[in-house]
Amino acid sequence: MRIKIAPSILSADKSKLQEEVKEIEPYADLLHVDIMDGKFVPPTTFKAEEIKQVTSKLAKDVHLMVDYPIKDNYIEDYADAGAGIITIHEECKDNIEEAFRLIKSKGIKTAISINPPSKLDNIKPYLDQVDMVLIMSVNPGYAGQKFIPDVLEKVKELRKLKPNLDIEIDGGISKDTIKQAAEAGANIFVAGSAIFNQKDRKKAIQELKQAVNS
Ligand code: DX5
Ligand code: ZN
Repeated sequence: MRIKIAPSILSADKSKLQEEVKEIEPYADLLHVDIMDGKFVPPTTFKAEEIKQVTSKLAKDVHLMVDYPIKDNYIEDYADAGAGIITIHEECKDNIEEAFRLIKSKGIKTAISINPPSKLDNIKPYLDQVDMVLIMSVNPGYAGQKFIPDVLEKVKELRKLKPNLDIEIDGGISKDTIKQAAEAGANIFVAGSAIFNQKDRKKAIQELKQAVNS
């Protein structure tokens, strides 16, 4: 499978978000947008209005780390903000299938995510309903955390079950960890600090891609 890089703008300079996006756009494949509600995880991140204003030819890959994607209007708001794909967490408190139906009704791709402590079994009933699975390789909430290698067992099992499914991995991806994630079967790689903490973003993205093939 072709590998894709999804820079997380959580690590970008928020005072010049559009400029930051333009800089990575020629080299990246998706624009990863981390949304936190202050409940599912302690921090809060962007407002839908800020994301709506960001224009990009990259699809907005919206990762909802929220308790109530439906009841708190996150799906509606990020559909309106131009999401190309919306990921909800299996640990959220709304009905998962209802959330998928709402996302699909807007013509948006669906994905489900699991946190490091959660079992792959929890999402198996949904695998035929999603376009992508997002395996968290850190406990969500903050950029710049250390990669948790144990989650690769879930990636391996999932790849065996679903040879053609997009498997995204998120958290602690760097040129030191990306190869093992790719070998386990992930094909979409979120990277925040590994890209935006480097001055030369083009080089940072190229180094990630090269590390997969090294
Ligand atoms: C974690 C977020 C990630 C994070 C990735 O809560 O979902 O997308 O920003 O950042 P790095 O690549 O620095 O771990
Ligand atoms: Zn994320």
